[in-house]
Amino acid sequence: MCGIVGFTGNQPAAPILLDGLKKLEYRGYDSAGIAVLCDEKITVSKVTGRIANLCEKTEDGKNVPGFTGIGHTRWATHGAPTDNNAHPHLSNDGKFAVVHNGIIENYVLLREELIADGFVFESETDTEVVVHLIEKYYQGDFKKAVIKTTTRLHGSYALGVVCADEPNKVFVAREASPLILGVGVGENFFASDVTALVSHTRNVIYLEDGEFAEVTPEAITVFDCLGNTVDKKVSRINWDIQSAEKGGYEHFMLKEIMEQPRAVKATIAPRIQGSEIKLDDLEISDEYLKSINKIIITACGSACYAGCAGKYAIEKLCRIPVHTELASELRYSDPLIDEQTLLIVLSQSGETADTIAAIKECKSRGAKVLSLVNVVGSTIAKISDYTLYTWAGPEIAVATTKGYTTQVALLYVFALYVARHLNRIDEPTYANLLETLEDMPSKVQEALDSNPHIPNLAKHYTPDRSVFFIGRNTDYAASLEAALKLKEISYIHAESYAAGELKHGTIALIDEHQPVIALCYNKDIYEKTMSNVVEVKARGADVLAVTFKHNVKIASVADDVIYVPNVETVFSGIVEIIPLQLLAYHVARENGCDIDKPKNLAKSVTVE
Ligand code: M6R
Repeated sequence: MCGIVGFTGNQPAAPILLDGLKKLEYRGYDSAGIAVLCDEKITVSKVTGRIANLCEKTEDGKNVPGFTGIGHTRWATHGAPTDNNAHPHLSNDGKFAVVHNGIIENYVLLREELIADGFVFESETDTEVVVHLIEKYYQGDFKKAVIKTTTRLHGSYALGVVCADEPNKVFVAREASPLILGVGVGENFFASDVTALVSHTRNVIYLEDGEFAEVTPEAITVFDCLGNTVDKKVSRINWDIQSAEKGGYEHFMLKEIMEQPRAVKATIAPRIQGSEIKLDDLEISDEYLKSINKIIITACGSACYAGCAGKYAIEKLCRIPVHTELASELRYSDPLIDEQTLLIVLSQSGETADTIAAIKECKSRGAKVLSLVNVVGSTIAKISDYTLYTWAGPEIAVATTKGYTTQVALLYVFALYVARHLNRIDEPTYANLLETLEDMPSKVQEALDSNPHIPNLAKHYTPDRSVFFIGRNTDYAASLEAALKLKEISYIHAESYAAGELKHGTIALIDEHQPVIALCYNKDIYEKTMSNVVEVKARGADVLAVTFKHNVKIASVADDVIYVPNVETVFSGIVEIIPLQLLAYHVARENGCDIDKPKNLAKSVTVE
């Protein structure tokens, strides 16, 4: 959940570290710090709160001289967000500083051992044991001390370590937390995420679990856990720098909402070749597809709701039963899985801890894993049997938007591909749905352009109490995501209910103070949802209806209407969510919330 960064070269390190931390701030933002080596001494600067405070404290890095350093932006797990708990942590002799992303699960025992050895702890963090262990094992060989230390650690870590005796060197280690090395000329870098590297270099090395690297200005040398050198491939990043910056928008979230036509196109278009769908170089044989008797879709948060949208499409088109399960539940559910189960995993970051654990659990029971991931080279991509990338580009805002819609888009592509390969779809329906997918980017653009009154609606639907979202079937899937979007960035309580369930209890909460957002897009079931709208209207609720274009009838029932472009219902999950993302954005803006970095959240949830 935290972000780490490091640099060694011939330029002042602190400004580069601060710049990298700003790019990583979405990963955690309750405290931050840097450690810079100068004249065989380590200077640590730490603050509670945002990177801006650290910039102020260090005068944008000017008052911290030195050419080698490490930095950290924190999402607190062990210990409150305080200066003391902020990273980097220093060894008692002041010789080592450490930044860490992950969780050291056996830190309590290690802490007791180190206290018995005479080490003094300054923080409540799990990380501090790492720096004291390094001091304990150091006998003049930095590399050996780091490798020996990691043999004592259980859990997950991406570590960056500097040593005052070796002023032009950073040591890094990785186990179950992301860590990427940036290859420069006369300077080298590392970071939790490529967004912190692209303004310096596009050449990167992905470190694997159990690997270490010695980073100096001249070279990066990667080792395995025995200290043997490992040959690594240098990969090229093709993201442009602007895609990791705001580009004139007030918030990353708004920029990313607006980027959706392009992102959805990048995800769908290359996979449609003539009248065929080509799934990259995925080697899923028709024989294997025929053997699948159940699909489980698993993920967390919005990614799981994208799975709910995909479930309807896969079941309808492929006639394979699909069960959608939160990864945090699936991993502990003793799941009923065998070789005929396909596990589909969705993750924007590719690093979500619960999702990774669910994959491991299901793989151990024989399931094959297909992951739909945005971040290339991420852990989930690596541990899956098959991977398809959503080409959304970097997503910085904590609340996902283009990450979500590209996941839904890719599930639709997959559903149509499987339906075709299993002969479960007739030719005209296939051709029609293929065209629907090809047109999707322009429909997304239309959805963005066609509701200029959303900022005004946001003023009205900003209640003190809560907002209910209702819908059925595909509308219900979209309503789950719409409610999460609203609550995570505006801090307004919002819940989604399957419309038909209202009368089984929830309708008791409906009165004139309870706004209801009714998703009435699905034409197959529209009349049924309308009867629920009438029921809540009869109890005094204000209703904002989200419906298909040209549905004029609804205006006489609902108080307000958002019109969504017409697409085939089975693929409606992308266009339907667009105005609701905008609504959530404008409600949060109206409430003065920190939209890109909502309180208590982080972009990449790498802890359980
Ligand atoms: O990176 P992932 O897609 O695995 O992340 C899953 C969730 O943590 C994520 O979707 C979360 O719910 C977002 N804050 C939603 O906007």
